[in-house]
Amino acid sequence: MNEIITLSVYEYHNASASISRGPKILAAFQEDRFVKKKNEVGIPLNSINACLKYLNIKASDVDYIGIVNDQDSFKSKNSILNFLFKRQSRYSVDDWKRENNFFWQKKLLQNKKIESFFKVMGGKQRIQKDHHINTKFYNDKKNFKYLNAEFQKRRLEAYKKIGFKEKNISFLPHYILHHYQAFYSCINKNFSQKNIIVHCEGDGGVYNHAISKFTKSRGIELIKGTSNFNLGRLYQWTTLNLNMLPYHDEYKVMGLAPYGDSDINHNLYKNFQKFFYFNYKTGLIDTKKKLKDLYFTFKQLINNTRFDKVAAILQKFLEDLLLKFFKNIEIKFKPHSIFYGGGVAMNVKANLYISSNLKKTKNFFVPLSPADESNVFGGNFFLIEKHFLKNQIPLNNIKPLENIYLGNKYKFKKIYFNKLQNYKISKYSNKHVSEKIKNGDVIGRYFGRAEFGQRALGNRSILASIDYPGIVEKINKKIKSRDFWMPFALSITDDELNKYFYKNRSLDPFYMTTCYKLKDEIDLNKFKNVVHPADRTGRPQIVTKMNNLEYFDLLNELKKITGVGAILNTSFNIHKKTIVETIDDAINVFKTTNLDGIIINNYYISK
Ligand SMILES: [Fe+2]
Repeated sequence: MNEIITLSVYEYHNASASISRGPKILAAFQEDRFVKKKNEVGIPLNSINACLKYLNIKASDVDYIGIVNDQDSFKSKNSILNFLFKRQSRYSVDDWKRENNFFWQKKLLQNKKIESFFKVMGGKQRIQKDHHINTKFYNDKKNFKYLNAEFQKRRLEAYKKIGFKEKNISFLPHYILHHYQAFYSCINKNFSQKNIIVHCEGDGGVYNHAISKFTKSRGIELIKGTSNFNLGRLYQWTTLNLNMLPYHDEYKVMGLAPYGDSDINHNLYKNFQKFFYFNYKTGLIDTKKKLKDLYFTFKQLINNTRFDKVAAILQKFLEDLLLKFFKNIEIKFKPHSIFYGGGVAMNVKANLYISSNLKKTKNFFVPLSPADESNVFGGNFFLIEKHFLKNQIPLNNIKPLENIYLGNKYKFKKIYFNKLQNYKISKYSNKHVSEKIKNGDVIGRYFGRAEFGQRALGNRSILASIDYPGIVEKINKKIKSRDFWMPFALSITDDELNKYFYKNRSLDPFYMTTCYKLKDEIDLNKFKNVVHPADRTGRPQIVTKMNNLEYFDLLNELKKITGVGAILNTSFNIHKKTIVETIDDAINVFKTTNLDGIIINNYYISK
């Protein structure tokens, strides 16, 4: 086996990097954990360095450097400004509204000839200071061609400055990497059966919605794609119309949906139908040309409809169209398994709806954190596949993401004993912690390597009982301040999942990528802290011995004590802050909130 090293980099939200050796991805990091700015945008220098450090290599040792986003992702000055402003990380709700009111409305609806939102959003002052490229080249008076050439030059220079060899650097097509991540990351796939891969997202460069197939002889090949899939953007701009943050709060709209009435005879649903449809000719979801924009077109109708009803109708409309698309895939391609990625696949409720309603497909797989941060894995898999094909190495040697605990691990050093001298420190025991959880304690778990992605999967998690009274309020009051309608997620062992929740066609549901419905005969009170009261669904992480042994053991101990091998699991961070990276970050959360205890590797610290 040729042990090539590939490094993959993503520069938009969430900026991240991952590294592989031979057929396997070994480490991955998200930049926001280091710079403490949510959804960070920009060259992820800390993440790149962490990747190199993990393998103990120099930049020049990397054989292939793949940077997500080739020239097709840069279509206008705004694509460059999106990067320079770090828009998806730094904009507030008011900023997004301002941009729409003073730029997009004029450009799209009034046909004014303004090229960019540079000026209306504050000009040079908006260019963020914490970039790793020299941003002085940007002059809005220059044309796009010039600015793009200057930007791409500086982008390349930044990577060369790190020490990567120019001949090893390639800029990769964005959209297809979602397919690489969706297919190759799956553990229990079968390379020989009929595998169809699809993705749906807001903006993917050439296409934002596509279908591809995998064959052992040729790898992943595009079948069809479109850039007219606009349901991801519709969800984004409806989020803004509901006064929530686009690129961030879409999950809150989804969480609100079950409380509302999803009336398909409502004007809003009918209005959506006027513009978005399933195109039987192409087999893809399409948008009619008469739709000029996605924010103002529906604004008035949304403003005149109750917020929960808007969410319910939007979610219903999305689910109905997606199901039409997937059912057509079943008829046309007769796949054994469907692999589904892209930002829209973050919608865990739609994923349950699809996987429950597919009739002939055996497996439905949604990969870890299918939005853009996981496109870095797509980058590694893309480079590995191309290398294997060229060297005639069978593609079934490419290793899946057997384990997504790919981040940093920190040692609990002596210095921390001093920092924690006012607290009780003991050796960690599953039994002791399970008793505490049972009795209503809220405990931070900081253990081993950090998990990658937007979901905490046990190693950087805050844990609590699934049914102890008052837990949701306790966590919300001092730590998370989640919106009152949002339920918490849970971790559960595979045996327990089948006992309490209905099965669906989801394959490898290890990453909280799909909802599950609580069985009718199970009392909701048993899961009241982790199941949505309006539709009885939960967002479980299924824990097995293989994917997290120590966490699995904790859940089993909890089962002995409480009768159910499940736990409330929310990410280890304070409201609006990033997930903890270092032990100091974790101690800081412990000291400044009402957390009752904290597990740090093999120690348990309590107040
Ligand atoms: Fe994407």
